Amino acid sequence: MYVCVCQAVTERQIHQAAHQGAKTLKDLRSQLGVTMECGRCASCAKQCLRDAHEGCSTGIMPVAA
Ligand code: FES
Repeated sequence: MYVCVCQAVTERQIHQAAHQGAKTLKDLRSQLGVTMECGRCASCAKQCLRDAHEGCSTGIMPVAA
């Protein structure tokens, strides 16, 4: 699922970034570009990051390719 449509960033990428050390929305912004355009993804990206740190509990499973 896309979290940031403007930058085509998925929930999975946010989880990966979290596992690689991203701790804040600012980290996600610099690593993935979320919130750099319209900014509508900010709260969703923050929640997704929080969920990633809490152990992947969003209830949305990544779809295997
Ligand atoms: S949806 Fe993320 S910047 Fe627009």
